[in-house]
Amino acid sequence: MSHLQLIWLSSAIALLGTAMLTLTAVFGNLLTSHKNQKFQLARRQTFTYHRLISILGVVLILIHPIPLVFAQSTTGVSVASIFVPFLAEKKITIIAVGVIALYVLLVILISSLCMKYLKQKVWRVLHYGSYLFFGLGIWHGLSISDNFEPNAEVNLLDPKKILLEVEIIILLLLLMWRVMLYRNQRKSM
Ligand code: HEM
Repeated sequence: MSHLQLIWLSSAIALLGTAMLTLTAVFGNLLTSHKNQKFQLARRQTFTYHRLISILGVVLILIHPIPLVFAQSTTGVSVASIFVPFLAEKKITIIAVGVIALYVLLVILISSLCMKYLKQKVWRVLHYGSYLFFGLGIWHGLSISDNFEPNAEVNLLDPKKILLEVEIIILLLLLMWRVMLYRNQRKSM
């Protein structure tokens, strides 16, 4: 595989991963609307889809830097730079933000797998880290270019970037909906 194809593969995996995690956020928010009778009926299926899609999304995001290591002479991404922030040879800060987002994602994933052993309050606080993950991860995806030449520009109207921008809008709408639900619940108390 040429370096260009490896970079394309990495990008496709990452974009599919973020799409899956955005879907996860949609299902997760449907789960919280347990007061709504219509969603109550679909609660079980929603939980199953939420779990399944989130695991798939996490795996895709976790593996997306691997093809870049095979194109190291072009990308500057080494095995060590996937685990340690600021070790990449190119796009140092943007890649470091991706690495940090990945650690935040791992904390959320592990806490969800150990949900039974954690107090609900502790789990909930850790789960709010999802917003931090999305913030860091999507900033990383939006700011990075698949061109590794110095001073390569990012085209925000590129279809890949538009997909990420649509995901940001969906996540913001979900956040607004959550705030509205919370306010309505407080009013009816
Ligand atoms: C070890 C951690 C990470 C490293 C080393 C890394 C590295 C990179 C690099 C070098 C690219 C540009 C090449 C390409 O287009 O694929 C890229 C793209 C991308 N990354 Fe990461 N990344 C990491 C973590 C993350 C995380 C946690 C997310 C979560 C949202 C993410 C989302 C994306 C997206 C969406 C793209 C595609 C951007 C595009 O093609 O327009 N990455 N990443």
